[in-house]
Amino acid sequence: MRLTVIGTGYLGAVHAACMADIGHEVLGVDVDPGKIRALSEGRPPFYEPGLDDVLTGAIASGRLRFSTSLSEAAAFGEVHFVCVGTPQQADSDAADLRHVEAVIDGLAPHLTRPCLVVGKSTVPVGTTPRLAARLASGAPAGAHVEIAWNPEFLREGFAVADTLRPDRIVAGVTSAGADRMLREVYAPMLAADVPYISTDPATAELVKVAANSFLATKISFINAMAEVCDASGADVVTLADALGHDTRIGRRFLHAGLGFGGGCLPKDIRAFTARAGELGVGEAVRFLHEVDHINLRQRQRTVALARELSGGSLSGLRIAVLGATFKPDSDDVRDSPALAVAAAVHGEGAQVRVHDPEGIGNARSAQPQLRYEADVTTACEGADLVLHLTEWSAYREIDPVKLARVVRTPRLLDARNHLDAARWRSAGWQVRTPGRPALAVLPGPQRGTASGHSARECAAVPAAPAEGTVLSRSPK
Ligand code: UDX
Repeated sequence: MRLTVIGTGYLGAVHAACMADIGHEVLGVDVDPGKIRALSEGRPPFYEPGLDDVLTGAIASGRLRFSTSLSEAAAFGEVHFVCVGTPQQADSDAADLRHVEAVIDGLAPHLTRPCLVVGKSTVPVGTTPRLAARLASGAPAGAHVEIAWNPEFLREGFAVADTLRPDRIVAGVTSAGADRMLREVYAPMLAADVPYISTDPATAELVKVAANSFLATKISFINAMAEVCDASGADVVTLADALGHDTRIGRRFLHAGLGFGGGCLPKDIRAFTARAGELGVGEAVRFLHEVDHINLRQRQRTVALARELSGGSLSGLRIAVLGATFKPDSDDVRDSPALAVAAAVHGEGAQVRVHDPEGIGNARSAQPQLRYEADVTTACEGADLVLHLTEWSAYREIDPVKLARVVRTPRLLDARNHLDAARWRSAGWQVRTPGRPALAVLPGPQRGTASGHSARECAAVPAAPAEGTVLSRSPK
C-alpha cells in the first residue's frame, strides 16, 4: 500500500520505518527540514535502539523516503497516518491539539481523491468526529475522505519491537471500508496472530488514555507502598514480588522508584482528567489527581532523602547525578524525574555534575545551569553524595570499589532501586534505597548494617519545601 506518515517524532519516525520494513511504500512528512534531512540520510534525530538499522534498510529498499510537503503526501498516499505530538497546554491540564489540527487543515485542501486519514496521536475522547467534519468541509474529495483512530502503544526504548510485534491493534472506524484498509496495512501482524480490536473511534481514543492511566496508577500505587514501607520498616521490593505472584495483579510496572515521566504518562493522565471534567464525569477519574500527586511527591522525597543523608543541607556539597533521561534506553528528558531532582538539588546550593549515557544533549538544553560530564568517574570526582536517578544498565556495571576511591564520601542514594546494594555496601558505601529501610537493619551477610544506617534513618521522610514547578504542581 502507499502510506504517508505525517509527523516524524518518536512515534512517526518509527512507524514510517516499520511500515516500509513490512513492505509498504512510505512517505514520511514533517515540517522540520532538519529532521527530514537527517531521516533521509538514515540518521534518526533521537536515540532509539534498533531504529537506525530498520531506517537504513527501509531507505535502501527504495520503499521509504521523506518530504516536507503535504501536497506531495496527498498525491502519494491512500492512507495518511497522523503522528504529531499532543503536548499538555501551557496554561491547563488539557491536551494541545494544535499540531493535529494543523495537519488536518494543511492536508485537506490537497485531498482530491478517496483516502483514509488515520490518527495515531493520543487525543481526548471525542476528537475524531470533530476532525472528520473539518476534513469533510476542507477536502475537495469531501465525504470520500474517511477518518479512523488507531492509537499507538509503543514504549520508548522498545519502539521498533512494539511496532512490529504489538500486544494488540486497536482500530476505531466508522465503516467496513476503513476497517478493511487497516487490516490490509497490518496484514503481517494479523498473520502473526496479533489481536485486532475493531471498534468505534471514541472507544479507540479512550483505550489509549485508559491504558496509560492504568499503568500510571500501578506505578503510583507501588510508590505509595514504598512510602508506607519507609515509615514501617517493611521492604517494598519483597512486597512487590509477593503482590506480583498474584496473576490478577502481575509484577510488571510495580517497580518502586522515582516515578514516571516522559512525553506520555504525565500529560495523558492530566489531559484525561481535563476531558472527563468537560464531559461532566470528572469525579470518575478524580483518583488520577492523586496518582499524579504521588508521582511528583517521589521527586520531593528523593531530594529530602538526599538532604537527610547529607546531614540536613545540600548547600555547598558536590553531588554526582547518574541519569538524566526519564527512563533508560532513551535520550528523552521530557518531564524527567531525574532531571527535575538534579535541578532541585542544584537549586538548594549543591554543585551538581550530571552523567547520562545518551541524554546529555537534551538535558543541557532543558537545564543549562547544570554541569554535565561525559563519564561516570569525572561526574563522581570528589562527590559527597551519588544520586542514582535513571536505571541505565551501564550503571549496574560500575565497580563500587573503584568508585569509592574517586568520591569524597562513599554515599549512594539509589532512587531507582536498581543497583546491587549489598555489593556497594561491601565496598564501603553507605547506601539508601527508598522503600527498603529494612535492608539497613536486617541481620545476615547479604543484608547487614555495613552502611551504618540506623533505624532512625528508616523514618518517614518529611516532604521538602515547595520546589517550584519542576517538583510539584498546585493541588487541584
Ligand atoms: C508509555 C506507555 O508504556 C506506552 O504504552 C505509551 O504508548 C507511551 O507511554 P513510555 O513513555 O515509553 O511508554 O515509558 P514506560 O516504559 O511506560 O515508562 C514510563 C515511566 O514510568 C518511566 O519514567 C519509567 O521509569 C516509569 N516506571 C515504569 C516506573 O517508575 N516503574 C515501573 O514499574 C515502570
